[in-house]
Amino acid sequence: MEILITSFSLLTLAVVVILIGTRGRPMRFFTAFGETLERVWQNRGPMFWVSACVVLVLGFLFFFYASPATRIGATQPIPFSHRLHAGHKAIECRFCHSYVDKSIHPGLPAVEKCLFCHTYIIANHPEIKKEHDYFNSNTPTPWVKVYELAEHVLFNHERHIKKEIACESCHGEVKEMDRLKGERFKMGFCIECHREKKANLGCWLACHS
Ligand code: HEC
Ligand code: HEC
Ligand code: HEC
Ligand code: HEC
Repeated sequence: MEILITSFSLLTLAVVVILIGTRGRPMRFFTAFGETLERVWQNRGPMFWVSACVVLVLGFLFFFYASPATRIGATQPIPFSHRLHAGHKAIECRFCHSYVDKSIHPGLPAVEKCLFCHTYIIANHPEIKKEHDYFNSNTPTPWVKVYELAEHVLFNHERHIKKEIACESCHGEVKEMDRLKGERFKMGFCIECHREKKANLGCWLACHS
């Protein structure tokens, strides 16, 4: 019904515009339209290249900003899921990220942490076999880092966690993500919250090493 009304109104509007635009002689619109089409056809070479460029640029922008691949995180060496482990199985963040409030490098869990469970749970799963291979060959799992900070900024979790700021307020809904997407933190992100929570804004002396 809405579609009918909308198209009817649009049609009426178009007719009125044509009538006014051609001062009551609607056929002029069609001759003008025909002439335009003819001119387009005469210039079809350049027109083609211009449209091709527009389509290419739009396509590039789409894949750069909006393609599905930019909405999920990097591929990891083992398809580890926070949604499964931290969400569904409700394993504490600190169980795996034990040093988060003790070190400036909270780090990613060593493979021993995984084997704590996976020596028993689905031990023959092909992805878990990879863990055993990393363990046996003494290779740290080559996890891809996803959260980044400009090199000159020193961030320390300790002060923030002591103030009971939830992991989620900076890292997003980790418990609902299979592959963490990560983010490159900008200075505005730090300052916005510091202003809101009345934390030290002069800390840039401390942060910028
Ligand atoms: C105030 C914001 C904030 C809060 C709260 C926060 N983080 Fe972070 N986290 C960061 C920033 C910024 C980085 C990037 C640090 C860097 O690259 O030096 C980071 C990095 C990490 C890393 C990667 C470290 C590495 O060595 O690669 C882990 C793991 C992590 N956070 C876990 C946690 C956990 C678990 C919690 C909750 C207990 C938490 N974070 C709370 C801001 C925060
Ligand atoms: C506290 C126990 C525990 C720890 C620690 C643990 N996991 Fe798991 N993991 C589980 C459980 C439970 C399952 C679900 C098993 C099932 O499907 O029956 C699972 C499933 C998996 C799966 C299979 C997912 C799938 O799609 O089938 C992978 C891969 C995995 N874990 C990787 C890891 C890695 C890597 C680590 C270390 C960073 C780790 N796990 C640490 C308990 C754990
Ligand atoms: C069973 C172990 C386990 C648990 C529990 C766990 N993590 Fe992780 N975490 C990992 C592993 C393995 C990685 C590296 C692979 C990845 O990025 O998915 C990681 C990566 C991260 C990173 C990205 C660090 C970076 O820059 O690459 C953040 C942030 C993080 N975890 C936060 C959390 C938070 C918050 C929780 C609790 C809600 C949590 N983790 C619970 C194992 C775990
Ligand atoms: C979600 C809110 C929030 C975000 C985001 C946040 N902070 Fe903070 N930060 C705080 C609070 C609250 C304190 C005060 C803690 C206290 O009083 O002990 C603090 C304290 C600090 C301190 C210690 C300041 C002092 O008094 O010496 C530093 C350094 C710092 N933050 C750096 C950063 C950096 C760098 C970032 C961005 C990567 C960041 N913070 C992001 C809330 C935040």
